[in-house]
Amino acid sequence: MNTDYIPIMKSLIDYLDEGAVSFHMPGHKRGNIYKKVGLDSLFEDMLALDTTEVPGVDNLHCPESAVLEAQKLAAGAFGADHSFFLVNGTTSGIYSMIMASADPGDKIIIPRNCHRSVYGAVILGRLVPVYIEPEIDYGLGIAMGIKPETVENAIIEHGDAKAVVITNPTYYGVCSDLKKIAELVHKRGMILLVDEAHGSHFCFNKKLPMSALEAGADMTSQSIHKTLASMTQSSMLHVKSERIDIEKLKTFLQLVQTTSPSHILLASLDTARYIMQQYGRELLDDVIEWSNWARTEINSISGCCCLGRDSMGRNGAVSFDPTRLTVNFGASGMSGTKVEDILRRDFKIQMEMSDLYNIVAITTIGNYRSDYEAFVNALKILVGGLETGNAKYMSASNLLRTQEPSLMPWEAAYCKKEQVDIERSIGRICGEMIIPYPPGMPVLVPGEPINRETYEYLKLCIEQGIKINGASDPKLKTIRVVK
Ligand SMILES: Cc1ncc(COP(=O)(O)O)c(C=O)c1O
Repeated sequence: MNTDYIPIMKSLIDYLDEGAVSFHMPGHKRGNIYKKVGLDSLFEDMLALDTTEVPGVDNLHCPESAVLEAQKLAAGAFGADHSFFLVNGTTSGIYSMIMASADPGDKIIIPRNCHRSVYGAVILGRLVPVYIEPEIDYGLGIAMGIKPETVENAIIEHGDAKAVVITNPTYYGVCSDLKKIAELVHKRGMILLVDEAHGSHFCFNKKLPMSALEAGADMTSQSIHKTLASMTQSSMLHVKSERIDIEKLKTFLQLVQTTSPSHILLASLDTARYIMQQYGRELLDDVIEWSNWARTEINSISGCCCLGRDSMGRNGAVSFDPTRLTVNFGASGMSGTKVEDILRRDFKIQMEMSDLYNIVAITTIGNYRSDYEAFVNALKILVGGLETGNAKYMSASNLLRTQEPSLMPWEAAYCKKEQVDIERSIGRICGEMIIPYPPGMPVLVPGEPINRETYEYLKLCIEQGIKINGASDPKLKTIRVVK
């Protein structure tokens, strides 16, 4: 083994040297936001700033001075009663907000396509998940919004559930009718929790969809690092409600976070708040204008279309994040994954993600107009010359119906597992998450039985080149089952 180099640092430096346009997180885009507002020297001497809780530097877990003040300022900026800084990402915010809202054995209503951290909270909190299904746009091949009627039916059928979780916006930038959902949830005395990992910027510009707190959510967790200026891993949890036991919430926040939080991450959250209050609206005005320009240009290219107004008003979607560019290539016959590869290789543009039919660009106030121009020009060259194809979205609707679990997810988590050939998995209990992209909906969750229909569907996914997330063997030749 060559011990003479530092592989992780090398990978970072190589990527930096490549100088690719960043349409991925973190939102500060290699510090561009800091450059735009003249604060680029702030984090220059990172090693010298890296300090523990010496006198004068506050403590995240029992804040009394700087951290307390910064959290209060954040609460003011984001419209919360209380804001908590997080150093273990929105993942830790989701764990804490869910476990503070429901006790072991309680029911919690969650979207079937929620992020794995919600499933994580269900396992850690030993909760009983009640699934609600988002609508699917079969043209785009993605999960869209959750209809208020879907939530209403679930809360009527499961009146004993403690809370409802909604992802708003989705990774693809789609928003549900959160205001209506909040009214329905509160009428039944339940708590509304929002996974707002991708929506931290919403409250800073009126041209953006309504933020979760504005819509009436009790708690929301936001990845400030994804769409604003803080560093990777730093997030915030906001509370605006009388229904939340703040002391219980604080207990869980301590449990799921390190006892040695990085003060650099905390300072970056504080700075992200400062930047948005000082410059946010104008910087967002620019980005919204550039994104809208790019959306129009992309829609003029034969073979691709960019998610936007045309897809709203149906499939549970009421609004979308204009800064998120979700581009569909279904009509070009080219896969999103292939487009993502070519953009990086030939045009030095790196996307946030791709699936079989789509690519997703996270654009933030850290991007420049030239980034959008480069993206549009690349797509014109790349897709413009193609014959239009006829990619068909394979319907997963039958399989998306929730199956009766054999074990609760937390029970399955504690069971011994074994890896078996996929052919031999029928009749076994699944021990892992199996999430085909598209549409990004788990087909199997730990504790659910694997039946022939599921097996046939997964085989078809692999044949069609659909990405399988969550699986220990992404090629799905084998699958992890309960022993
Ligand atoms: C919808 C959604 N929720 C939650 C998370 C977790 O956020 P974090 O990476 O800040 O822990 C992610 C991360 O990608 C996400 O996409």
